[in-house]
Amino acid sequence: MRAAIAAENLTVSYDDFLALDDVSIDVASGESFGLVGESGSGKSTLLRAIAGLAPVSDGRIALDGETLDARYRDKAFYRRVQMVFQDPYGSLHPRQTVDRLLQEPLAIHGVRDAERRILRALDEVGLGSSFRFRYSHQLSGGQRQRIAIARALIIEPEIMLLDEPTSALDASVQAEVLNLLEQVRRDRKLTYIMVSHDLGVVTHMCERLAVMKSGKVVERLSSGDLVAGRISEAYTKNLMVASKGFVRKAALA
Ligand SMILES: Nc1ncnc2c1ncn2[C@@H]1O[C@H](COP(=O)(O)OP(=O)(O)O)[C@@H](O)[C@H]1O
Ligand SMILES: [Mg+2]
Repeated sequence: MRAAIAAENLTVSYDDFLALDDVSIDVASGESFGLVGESGSGKSTLLRAIAGLAPVSDGRIALDGETLDARYRDKAFYRRVQMVFQDPYGSLHPRQTVDRLLQEPLAIHGVRDAERRILRALDEVGLGSSFRFRYSHQLSGGQRQRIAIARALIIEPEIMLLDEPTSALDASVQAEVLNLLEQVRRDRKLTYIMVSHDLGVVTHMCERLAVMKSGKVVERLSSGDLVAGRISEAYTKNLMVASKGFVRKAALA
């Protein structure tokens, strides 16, 4: 099967610091792929490299088999690939209404049926039309993150790059937003690459994952491998112990 997204032997360096060192992943269409690893291991850098936001010095990124330019991404790319970041406060302008925030990507991409898309997106993220003219500073963290997700979805992308999309949220809100993301992926047959430092989250959301350490992929696993404890690297085992959510989930299994 041809990969929806493939990164081959990617290298990213900042001065002489190697943030990504010969990293390869491939993600099938419709798959949910996880990236885990300690802080600073290069997870965000890999997503940013895919999105054209990191200085790739070597390797190749392909979308549906087509090699992309090392740095430049055109509008057509962002129409197919959207990104959601961790911080729902930093990524939304506080003095704009939800309507304005949702109009913006539509205007950028020249999408015409704004009315229908805005109502659909609000409904899809579980907020509904009563939120349309609220200001983003009036929303809770979870509601903001739902708007950030709606802003990505409204373009009707194929692939979502999710960088710790629930890490800044309280545990109960985190579960709601994860369930929402899972529901949307099924409904729209989306492909996800999802970063988390929590193995519990990744096991819940993803079929396969890559474990990153110091800019390298040190292990590749399926969620089934993780739950069954089929882990080779001590580093991965330590991540598992550090993930409270995982311990809880494993105890229930
Ligand atoms: N713009 C940048 N300039 C310099 N160093 C950076 C930059 N972005 C990331 N790094 C470094 O690259 C490493 C990997 O960062 P990152 O990908 O953000 O890790 P993670 O998301 O796994 O926590 C870190 O050591 C970080 O300090
Ligand atoms: Mg990060």
